[in-house]
Amino acid sequence: SDEPLVLGIETSCDETGVGIVRGTTLLADAVASSVEEHARFGGVVPEVASRAHLEAMVPTIQRACDTAGIALADVDAIAVTHGPGLAGALLVGVASAKALALSLGRPLYGVNHLASHVAVDQLEHGPLPEPCLALLVSGGHSSLLRVTDITGGEGPGLGVDPMGATIDDAAGEAFDKVARLLGLPFPGGPHIDRVAREGDQVAIDFPRGLSSRRDLERHRFDFSFSGLKTAVARWVEARERTGEPVPVADVAASFQEAVCDVLVRKALDAASSEGIEDLMIGGGVAANSRLRALAEERAAKLGIRVRVPRPGLCTDNGAMVAALGAEMVARGRTPSSLDLPADSSLPV
Ligand code: KG4
Ligand code: ZN
Repeated sequence: SDEPLVLGIETSCDETGVGIVRGTTLLADAVASSVEEHARFGGVVPEVASRAHLEAMVPTIQRACDTAGIALADVDAIAVTHGPGLAGALLVGVASAKALALSLGRPLYGVNHLASHVAVDQLEHGPLPEPCLALLVSGGHSSLLRVTDITGGEGPGLGVDPMGATIDDAAGEAFDKVARLLGLPFPGGPHIDRVAREGDQVAIDFPRGLSSRRDLERHRFDFSFSGLKTAVARWVEARERTGEPVPVADVAASFQEAVCDVLVRKALDAASSEGIEDLMIGGGVAANSRLRALAEERAAKLGIRVRVPRPGLCTDNGAMVAALGAEMVARGRTPSSLDLPADSSLPV
C-alpha cells in the first residue's frame, strides 16, 4: 500500500498511548495506563503521570511496533498530541516524538487532542463526514464543534469551530465527582455506567443545566454540570441524615440520565440549526452506554446519523493521534517544526 504509515503518541493525561495506522487502517493501539497509581488520590496527579509516561514510553513504542509487525524505520511520519492536557505529561510525548522524527528523518505533526478524539472514528467507520457536528465529551472538556476540516482545528474559521462548551465542569469530571460521592472507584464514569444499569433513571428528577428558557437565550449550546453535581450531593446527604440507605443504582441512573439528556438534546439542536446530518460523538464519556443509546434513538427521529467509536477508542489512546496525523499527511498539511511547543491550554 502507498498510504502513509503513521505512528502517533498520546501523553496528555494518564494514558501513554502509541498507535500505528496505515491511512485509515488501524495496525496497533498500545496503551499503558498509570490510572492505578492515581486512584488512591481520587484524581490524576500530574507529577506521577509525567514520571509514568517516561517509564512507559519506550516499551509502549516497542509493543506497538511488534503488534503492527513493523520496524520503526518503516514509519513515514510521527504524530504527537501537543495539547491541551497536563503540561509535564505533554512534554514527555512531544520530546519523544521529536527524538523519533529527528533520528528517523521523518516529518513531525503536532496534533490537537480534542480534534483527535473526533478523527479516531474513521479507523472504525471510514472517512469522516464533513461538515459534521461533533459532541466532544471527556474528563477535561465538553463542547459542541462544527467541523468542516478536522485537520484545521487550531483557531476559529480553520475547520473546527466551537459552537458551545461547558461553563464549569466537564461531563467526565461530573461523572468522576458523583462516583466519588457514591463511593465508587476512580475514574468513576465506567462504574456509574455499570451501576446505573440496575437503577431507575426516572427515580430522581435531577436538574438539566442551562436548559431554562432564559439560560437558552445566552447559552443555547453551552453546558453546565456543577449544579447537577451539587444537587446529587444534597440529595445523598439528605438521605444519609434520615439513616436510610442510599439507593446507589437509582442515583447513578438518574444522574446519568440528566447528563445524557442535556448532551444529546443540545448536540441534536446544534446539528439541526446548522442543517448538519452527521453527529460524531468522541471523548471518554462517549463510551457511556446510555449516551450512545439515547443519541441513536433521538437522532433517528430527526434523520440525523450518529457515529461513535467503540468504547476502547473513546478513551485516550495513541491510535487517535495516528489517525489525525495520517489525515494531515493525506491532506498535505505542513509538518510541524522541531520547535513544536507543548501547549497545555491549546484551543480546539
Ligand atoms: O477522553 P478521556 O479518556 O480523557 C480526557 O481527555 O479527559 O476521558 C476520561 C473521562 C473520565 O472522566 C471517565 O470517567 C470518563 O471519561 N468515562 C466515562 C465512561 N468511560 C470513561 N464516563 C461515562 N461513562 C463511561 N462508560
Ligand atoms: Zn481525551
